[in-house]
Amino acid sequence: MGLWSKKSISSLQAEASSEGEGSLRRSLGAVNLTFLGIGAIIGAGIFVLTGNAAATYAGPAVVLSMVLAGIACGFAGLCYAEFASMIPIAGSAYTYGYATLGEFFAWIIGWDLMLEYLFGAATVAVGWSGHFGAFMEQLGVHLPAAYMNAPLAVDAANNFSRTGAVLNVPAMVLIGLMTVILVIGIRESANFNNAIVFLKVSIIFLVIGFGFVFVNSDNWHPFIPENTGTFGQYGISGILRGAGVIFFAYIGFDAVSTAAQEAKNPQKDMPIGILGSLAICTILYILMALVMTGLAPYTELNVPDPVFVAVAKAGPGLNWLTYLINIAAIAGLASVVLVMLMGQPRIFYSMSRDGLLPPVFGKVHPKFKTPYITTILTGAVAAVVAGIFPIGLLGQLVSIGTLLAFVIVCAGVWILRVRSPEIPRAFRTPWVPVVPILGILSCFGLMAFLPLDTWFRLLIWLGLGMLIYFMYSRHHSHLGRADAGRPASGD
Ligand code: ALA
Repeated sequence: MGLWSKKSISSLQAEASSEGEGSLRRSLGAVNLTFLGIGAIIGAGIFVLTGNAAATYAGPAVVLSMVLAGIACGFAGLCYAEFASMIPIAGSAYTYGYATLGEFFAWIIGWDLMLEYLFGAATVAVGWSGHFGAFMEQLGVHLPAAYMNAPLAVDAANNFSRTGAVLNVPAMVLIGLMTVILVIGIRESANFNNAIVFLKVSIIFLVIGFGFVFVNSDNWHPFIPENTGTFGQYGISGILRGAGVIFFAYIGFDAVSTAAQEAKNPQKDMPIGILGSLAICTILYILMALVMTGLAPYTELNVPDPVFVAVAKAGPGLNWLTYLINIAAIAGLASVVLVMLMGQPRIFYSMSRDGLLPPVFGKVHPKFKTPYITTILTGAVAAVVAGIFPIGLLGQLVSIGTLLAFVIVCAGVWILRVRSPEIPRAFRTPWVPVVPILGILSCFGLMAFLPLDTWFRLLIWLGLGMLIYFMYSRHHSHLGRADAGRPASGD
C-alpha cells in the first residue's frame, strides 16, 4: 500500500478543471502552445551538436540520424498527446505515472524530469554563453574568459579539475532574466517566446533557402562514409550513435504538456502543440542537416558553431547570413532555457499538490498566477549548475533522463488502454500497442547508445531521489493518507 497507490483518472480530471485561488491562469491557445514547443526544441542540438554528430559519427548520413531520432520522438509524442489531452495536469509525465504505475514510479519520474528541465536549462544556458561570447568577439567586444567559463572541468576518466575560470556569468545572467519573465506571467512568457521563435525560425528558413543554392553536392558523397572498424565511427552504427547524440535536439516538445493547466482548451490544443511543434522541427532539422553537410565537408563540422562554419563556406555571397546565424543561435537558445525553466516548476507544483513536496512548492502568486516560489528556486539552482559545471557533463545526462521519461510515458499509455479502455480520450494514439511498444524500444535503444558513465550518473541521481522519497514524500503523500484503510484506485 502507499508505494503503488494510483491516482484515479476521475480525480485527476476534476483537478485539471478546478479553477480559483491557487490555480494557474488559462491563457494559451494552440498557436502559443505550438510556439512553446518550437521554442523549447530548436536550440543547442541543431546549432551545436549536429556538426559534432556529422563529423564524428555519421558523416552526411547525420540526416538519417535526424530521421531516426525524429521517428523515436514521434512515437513518444503520440503517447504524450494522448495523456496530455486526457489528463491535462501540469505534472506531465509525473502525473501520467501516478495514474498508471503508482506513487513510487511517479516520484521517480518527477525526480528524473529534473534532469530534463532543470539540468536541460543549465546545459543550454552554458551553450548560450559560448555563442554570446563569440558574437561579442565578432562585434569587437572582448569579454574576460575567467567570467565566461566553468571553473570545473571533467575528463574522460571522470576526474574533476579546476580550469582557472571563476564562473560562467553570462549563463547565470540569462537564467536570471528568464526566471524574472516566468515569474511575471505565463502570457508574458509566451509572448516573449513567440517573438524569439519567429526570429529563429525565419533565420533558419533563410539558411535553408539560400544554403541550398550554394550546396556542393560532392560533399554528400559518400553519403554514408564507410565504417572505420570501430563501432559508431561512420557506417550504420555511426548513424545509430549519431541518432543518440542528435536526440538532444528534439527534447522539448514534451514541455508543452507542463502548460496543460494554462491551456484554454487542453483536450484539443495539447495534441496540436506537442505534435505540431515536433513535426515542424523535424522537417526543419532534416533540411538543415542536408544544407550543412552539403555546404561543407562533414569532417570540418566538429566545431562549436557548425551552422556558421557551413554557411561561411558558401563564400562572400552569404557573409550577411553569418551574422544572422549568431543572432538566431543566441535568441534560439534563450527560448529553450525559458521553456525548460517553465516546465520544471510546474512539475514541482503538481508534486507539491500531491503532498510529495512541501506545500510551499505549490504556492501560486496571487497577482501573476505563476508558481513563483518554485520558479525562483528552479532558476537559482539552474544558475548555480550553469555557472559551475562544464557542458559535456550535463548534456548526456539530460538526454538519458528525458528518454527514461519517454519510455515510461509510452508504457503508461499502453497500460491505461488495457486497464481502463472505456475512459474517453480526446486524442487517441494510433495503433496501440504497436506505437507505444515501438516508442519504448526506440527510446530504450537510444539510451543504450549513451556512454556507461551516463547510466551510472542516472542511477546515482535516481538513488538520491529514492532517499528523499522514503525520508519525506512517502510520509506526506496526500494519497497515502487518504488511502489508509481503503484499497487503491481501480482506474
Ligand atoms: N532541444 C533543445 C536544444 O536543442 C534542448 O537545445
